[in-house]
Order: sequence, then structure tokens, then C-alpha cells
Amino acid sequence: MSPLDLRSDTVTRPSAAMRRAMAEAEVGDDVLDGDPTTGRLEARVAELLGHEAALFFPSGTQANQTGVGLQARRGQEIVLEANAHLLHYEMGALPGLWGVQPRPVPTPDGLLTAELVEQAIRPASPHVPRTCGIAVENTHNAAGGQVMPVATLAAIRRVADGHALPLHLDGARLWNAAAALGVPPATLGALATTVMVSFSKGLGCPVGSCLAGSRDHMREAWTLRKRLGGGMRQSGILAAAALYALEHTLPRIGDDHAAARALAERLADHPHVRVVAPATNIVMLDLLRDRAEDVVPRLAAAGVLVVPFGPTRLRAVTHLDVTADDAARAGDVLARVLA
Ligand SMILES: Cc1ncc(COP(=O)(O)O)c(C=O)c1O
Repeated sequence: MSPLDLRSDTVTRPSAAMRRAMAEAEVGDDVLDGDPTTGRLEARVAELLGHEAALFFPSGTQANQTGVGLQARRGQEIVLEANAHLLHYEMGALPGLWGVQPRPVPTPDGLLTAELVEQAIRPASPHVPRTCGIAVENTHNAAGGQVMPVATLAAIRRVADGHALPLHLDGARLWNAAAALGVPPATLGALATTVMVSFSKGLGCPVGSCLAGSRDHMREAWTLRKRLGGGMRQSGILAAAALYALEHTLPRIGDDHAAARALAERLADHPHVRVVAPATNIVMLDLLRDRAEDVVPRLAAAGVLVVPFGPTRLRAVTHLDVTADDAARAGDVLARVLA
């Protein structure tokens, strides 16, 4: 039997129906004069996120970096949460690509607040760098899929507006956040100046992300994307997968949250692990006795793949290819291996 792969929600394989949609996609040259399917996806995503326009990207990292690239000023600072993906998992791109310094703000749960952001924005001074932008992440990956409530995001936007600063939203899992909050994605997306969403995580596509924002910002983003090597030609083949996922996969994304809860429940009373209650599709497991590097191979041998997330922390992520029964079964295997 193939192992239950809970290392990430990026491990999903495109279904036969998704592959059919890809094979049948109408395509053009998106760099030359446009690809019709990519154009349809961009229009749909702009609408879904409450913005004027959107652009399709090969990856979330490139879309994120283009979003922050729009706000970046060399020698200035971008305020973000201390465990943000933008800071830890994008290969130093903030200073490397844009010459900006991150201003990390520690939080207990990955969730910035308006007060914390306000405190981190530099006062006008000849002695300290200026703040050029703010970035938030929803859901927050490293914090275990925590959800930033609408009111918090709205309050952060008010702070940003008060300082005339742009707000970028890393919404690789915005679909999960919206489902958990029971709001349309636009309720969150429209609060940001630019918002990135991924199709290759909870939506089960092989690849792809979008950045949404104003028409002017997306015109500028087109140039940055091209500079980063993100001009894609017959991208309709990939955009077709995303269009398919928005129609068929997005409505069931809450099932992944139920599966995460099913896994967590199996370990609730276990003496050797403390489970961080999952808010969405990510379950963080704090080992009370074992080391993550010892447990991961033992779990793999028992048919469950997870990743270490620190010396005594494991991360398990539910997704399209894992049912609630599979997740509960993974919880049982974890319970046995840790016993
Ligand atoms: C919160 C967050 N932002 C951005 C990304 C980057 O996406 P990609 O892997 O498509 O570059 C990820 C990927 O895991 C993520 O979890």
C-alpha cells in the first residue's frame, strides 16, 4: 500500500478530470499577445479576490516576491511576522532581489495585530530606515495553519492606510482561511493592496499561483514577473488546471480541515505528544519525549509521511488526496509509533 503522504498539501497529484481539462485547454502565447485560458483564469481570480486584475505565476514564491517587489524601496523595511514564509523560505529574496530589510515582528501564534504593526512602523527620522510596506500571511504556514480573522486584517489595513503603506497578503492558503472563517475569499483578499493565492496546495493543481491587485499594479507586476523569468507561453495548460480546481476543488476544501481534526482527535489524550488544535489543514505535533528526527523515519516505515518542524515538532498536512478516514488512520499509526 502506498504511504499516507502528509508532508505537505503540495504533494497532491492532478486527477484524471483535471488532466483532461489541461489537455483540452485552448492556448496562445501569453508573453506575445495573450493566452485565452490564462486570461480567463486571471479574470476569475481577480473577481474571486475582490480586485481589478490578477496575473498568473508559476509559483507562490515568484508571485509573493512580485507583490513585495511592487512595494520595496532599496534600503527600506518591510514589516512582517517573524515566522513568515517570505522571511524564512524564499531564499533571502527580500534583501537579495529588492534590497529591502525585513522587520520581523514576533507573535505567539503567527498572527500580527494592528497594534504590533503600528509599533513596528518606523517614525520619520534621519537615523533609522523607513518602512516601505507590510506583509501578512493567512493562513500562517509555520504557525500551523492559523487563521487571521477578518477584523484583524481590516485593522492592519487601516494602520497601513494611516501611514500610506501598501499591504501584501501571502494567501498561499487563503482558500483555507476563507473556508475556516465562512467568508468569501474576496472578504479577505480585498483588504490587501496585493494578494497572492496558490493553486498547487489545497486546490490540488500541479503548479501555479496568482497575484491580484489594481490594474496599474498588475501592469507593473507583469514587468517584474518577466524580469524574474515568469513569462509563460502556452500557460493555458496550467491555468486550465486552476480553473478546474476553482470550480471542483475549492468547494470541498473544508473537508481537509475536518480530516485534520480527525487526525488530531486520535492523539488528544496521548501521553507523549501535545497536539496544537488545527485551525485548518495543518496539524502541529509537539513531541514530549522523542526527537522529530528519530520519529519521522519510524513513521515512514509504518506508512505515514510527515516532516520535522523543529527538533521536537512534527507537521502533518491534510489535502485532497487524504480522506478523513485516512487521516484518522494516520493518527492511529502516530499513536502506536509514539507509544
Ligand atoms: C505561506 C506560503 N507562502 C508562499 C509559499 C510559496 O509557494 P511555492 O512553493 O509555490 O513557491 C508557500 C509554499 O509552501 C507557503 O506555504
